[in-house]
Amino acid sequence: MKRKSVEEKIIDQAENLRLIVQEKSGKSESGDSKTRIITVSSGKGGVGKTNFAVNLAIAYSQIGKKVVLLDGDLGLANVNVILGVVPEFSLFNIIKNNKSMKDIIINTKFGISFIAGASGFSKIANLDDEERKRFISEMNELSFADIIIIDTSAGISNNVLAFIASADEAIIVTTPEPTAITDAYGTIKIITTELGDSNIAIKLVVNRVKSVTEAKKVAHRVITIVGQFLNTKVDYLGYIYEDPIVQNAVLVQKPFLVSDPRSKASICLKHIVSRLENIEFREGSGVGNFLKKLLSKNG
Ligand SMILES: Nc1ncnc2c1ncn2[C@@H]1O[C@H](COP(=O)(O)OP(=O)(O)OP(=O)(O)O)[C@@H](O)[C@H]1O
Ligand SMILES: [Mg+2]
Repeated sequence: MKRKSVEEKIIDQAENLRLIVQEKSGKSESGDSKTRIITVSSGKGGVGKTNFAVNLAIAYSQIGKKVVLLDGDLGLANVNVILGVVPEFSLFNIIKNNKSMKDIIINTKFGISFIAGASGFSKIANLDDEERKRFISEMNELSFADIIIIDTSAGISNNVLAFIASADEAIIVTTPEPTAITDAYGTIKIITTELGDSNIAIKLVVNRVKSVTEAKKVAHRVITIVGQFLNTKVDYLGYIYEDPIVQNAVLVQKPFLVSDPRSKASICLKHIVSRLENIEFREGSGVGNFLKKLLSKNG
């Protein structure tokens, strides 16, 4: 029998982790109320993953879900900046410094819990028994969450793959830029090849669009090539307009859903959540009208 590769070990461990978080939550029997794990990834960097992940987390907490946002990006600590927090510890400190989940998790003023830069996540494949036991027991502390959202770095490293393998859904963010589309396809290809058997739902968000038509064209292109060459289904979740509020929100260190809930970007985000939840988006009639106009103007 062939020896398992590092990737396979990572995937096994991540798979175990997911089952454990879900099992310990004691909710998996009922099906719909287990902890849901969503990763946010991309091929090309800088397409808007972090802003999307943070605001997605807040949108979910605004509809009453308990949300944990995990910063899985090992590079720049972008989530910290957007949330205006300075975390002292990360998941790595659980493995190596005997910290507990309570020590590292931060309750933010935006209603979501946050765990910082999980450097070393892919190392869970190589932990000794004692370390692994500790890690799993601390991860169990997260089973209070309805949703865990993981913001990953761009592209597919072992670390990103480990996060995706532990997830129920992988949201891929792209922009209309041709290189971003090509790289989104490349990422989906790797996920399909490496994690083909693991039933992860792949979903697509098109960010920074100028019109609904543009978004649809991009989505159609990705869905078609993925279907044709990888024989895989991608679910189009929606789009987010190019909107200066996104940059402003970063400057004032307040996520745009909080700083400007009626902005185009915020409304798009709420639509994406409704799509994820399979519910119809409704808001006060003012916004409803605004939305109708917005959609017919750009549709
Ligand atoms: N819909 C949008 N409209 C306008 N600007 C946007 C939008 N989405 C993202 N941006 C801007 O794009 C830049 C990159 O965003 P962000 O950091 O979220 O991307 P990322 O994919 O997480 O990047 P990285 O790959 O480096 O982690 C930021 O300056 C952000 O303000
Ligand atoms: Mg980022």
